[in-house]
Amino acid sequence: MNAPRTNLSQIPDRRSLILDGRTWAEISLGALGENFHAIQQHVGAGVTICAVVKADGYGHGAIECALALEAEGVPWLGVTDAAEGRALRGAGIWTRILLMTGIWKGEEDGIVSHNLTPTVWETWHIERLEKAAKKQQVNLPVHLKVDTGMNRLGAKVEGLPRLCEKLAVCEHLHLEGVSTHFASAEVLDAEDAPRQTKRFEQALAKLAEYDLHPPLVHMGNSAAVSARPETWKTMVRPGILLYGYSLPILRGGEIVDGSSLPLVPVLTWKTRVLTVKDVPAGEAVGYASSYVTGKSTRIAVLPVGYADGYPRLLSDRARVIVRGEYAPVVGRVSMDLTTVDVGHIPGIAVGDEVILIGAHNGRSVDAVELARLCESVPYEILCGISQRVPRVYI
Ligand SMILES: Cc1ncc(COP(=O)(O)O)c(C=O)c1O
Repeated sequence: MNAPRTNLSQIPDRRSLILDGRTWAEISLGALGENFHAIQQHVGAGVTICAVVKADGYGHGAIECALALEAEGVPWLGVTDAAEGRALRGAGIWTRILLMTGIWKGEEDGIVSHNLTPTVWETWHIERLEKAAKKQQVNLPVHLKVDTGMNRLGAKVEGLPRLCEKLAVCEHLHLEGVSTHFASAEVLDAEDAPRQTKRFEQALAKLAEYDLHPPLVHMGNSAAVSARPETWKTMVRPGILLYGYSLPILRGGEIVDGSSLPLVPVLTWKTRVLTVKDVPAGEAVGYASSYVTGKSTRIAVLPVGYADGYPRLLSDRARVIVRGEYAPVVGRVSMDLTTVDVGHIPGIAVGDEVILIGAHNGRSVDAVELARLCESVPYEILCGISQRVPRVYI
């Protein structure tokens, strides 16, 4: 039930939005493709890449990113659930799609008809999918998830025999893959990743006892791709790396060099100066008077706020880039507006482009910096850029 195959040239050119737009995100599909090839080169041609485009491609636009990755030859796409998978199929994407977060009762027919590949770990997953596959007369590949220590999704090693017995009597399902997920692959001296890897090896041995040797064996997220080659097996599932960010790899609480992956951030978040104010010394700026000017200065008002996903926690903390200089965010980030002090930057005018995430003139603000200020992770910053912000593909 695929829509006709789409190609990249059919992505609507929304560049005009830059001219009209108050705040927008520029997505470099070229950078996305380069990051994919860098990862492929890093893990080697023998390791299959499942490019994770869940959560609307980490805020970058799942359909556009999936089309671009498909054009670059990505063999697998990873999404959260069947709804995300169906949306990609509806856009004409034909690449294999892995549903990484289970299924809901009632979805099985759609999963089969949309040629989506479910992850299973409950006996009822297998029973219901077998029924749907039989009805549609197909042989459905499934991936089995093993819980090796995160205690979220997946079957424990001890629960595998029951699932293997269930699979053995299925005539319309076959075990194509087996997976697990790391809690903290980026912490090199933590015990959990080796423990998880050991339990995963036990799971593979248990499957072998039932003569199950799935060709796609996968554990690795971005951190494992960067720092744990022993976990790559036959497939890896990088997400954040594709979008140009690597997690800091830690040993003894210190950041150590991870991989030498040459990554390019895919997303640049921009806005424009809406208005400029001269503010005398001793005046408060914005809600709750959280910032009071120490001397007379100029304040630029930006049409971006927490409704766009620019977190309120950045109030009085973050910085932006305007005319190639850093300008501090002063006062509270509100729903639609943010104020920055531009007293030190001559010539600021209404309409000037402002970089919220991105680089210019040797200055840079990235999602890691904003995440640190919010005690969060770059994932949340990127996924949090709201639908009000048009994505412009370049
Ligand atoms: C099962 C699974 N695999 C892979 C990923 C990709 O993770 P990352 O973006 O850290 O590479 C995720 C993301 O949370 C995930 O849930």
